[in-house]
Amino acid sequence: MNRYILAFFLFSFLGWLWESIYCTMRKHKWANRGFLYGPICPIYGFGSLFGFFIYDLCKAEHLPTMEWWMIFILGFIVSMVLEYPTSWILEKRFNARWWDYSNVPLNINGRTSVPTSLAFGTASILVMKVLIPLADRGLITLSETLSNILALLLVSIISMDATLTISALTDFQRRVAAIDEGFQNHMTDIINQVYSNQNSLYNKVISRIAVFKLSERKNKIAKQLCEERFEELIKDYFESDVVKQMGQYIQHGTTTTLEHCENVAWISYLINEKLHLNADEKALIEAAMLHDLFLYDWHDGDPSRKTHGFDHPDIACNNAVKHFDISEKKQEAIRSHMWPLTITKIPKSREALIICFADKYCAIIETIRLNKKFGLRH
Ligand SMILES: [Fe+2]
Ligand SMILES: [Fe+2]
Repeated sequence: MNRYILAFFLFSFLGWLWESIYCTMRKHKWANRGFLYGPICPIYGFGSLFGFFIYDLCKAEHLPTMEWWMIFILGFIVSMVLEYPTSWILEKRFNARWWDYSNVPLNINGRTSVPTSLAFGTASILVMKVLIPLADRGLITLSETLSNILALLLVSIISMDATLTISALTDFQRRVAAIDEGFQNHMTDIINQVYSNQNSLYNKVISRIAVFKLSERKNKIAKQLCEERFEELIKDYFESDVVKQMGQYIQHGTTTTLEHCENVAWISYLINEKLHLNADEKALIEAAMLHDLFLYDWHDGDPSRKTHGFDHPDIACNNAVKHFDISEKKQEAIRSHMWPLTITKIPKSREALIICFADKYCAIIETIRLNKKFGLRH
């Protein structure tokens, strides 16, 4: 038991050291990382304890020796699994975030992300192959009395630290709640003032919706801003006669080709936003809006339509070049949107990949006619 307690403290300290050095270098000023006052990051301690159990099981031959790639996968999974609930619990309990990966690509609500978990997976190899065996050898050299005293001492210190930290954080949480309440009361007052001259029924309705919830409000504003920005980006296309022509033909189900293109642009825009893929937004929207600019009804039974699936990306691209003089990158995105059907035309840019995926998604949803239920615009 003492061995595990001491290992927990050792790796919590190493984690704190690593994070503090890393954050200090990035921010060019001293950053004391960690949940507690003391120089430890318990999440590293818990993660490494898990590694220690595995190490002991392998040593006792209850488990086969782990190859480096198995450790990498395990480290990746443990990091993904450990970070999300820890961040969620800390935020729900204390209204604060200890880490935020919102700007990292492929993150889940900013709590955990694929790139950071890949880094943790790599670090796990170092921990399992070098640090844990070293710690194990070091801990064996301690006498029983010394490890008893050390374990007791460290547990006492962390208990005091945790008490102090939680009491300070609870105080912080109370202040945040007071600010939130103040904000809500203030907004309710304003609403009441604005509508005080309206009739009583109107007032009744307004008083019911005037209870503001900060997070919901913020989400609503964010959603509205997101839609406004998208509309700003696509509005010019609706003035073009050649784009308007797409509205005459049905693409899938009851959706016209123009509506389909707008749906693909919208889904591409959302994928780029939500997954923080940092694609060129303008190029993405333009290529998506023009990706099916082939200008005929492909259901009309004309014998030349038999190869429509293979031909139309090139036809659309040629039309787009003729009418909009678009860049090479956008042309490539239009030509590759039917991949893997057009096997040799592989999407090469981030924008092309997003459009290729969004096109498949929209085509399926439009064909089964569940457009609104699955977030399409038309
Ligand atoms: Fe298409
Ligand atoms: Fe399409």
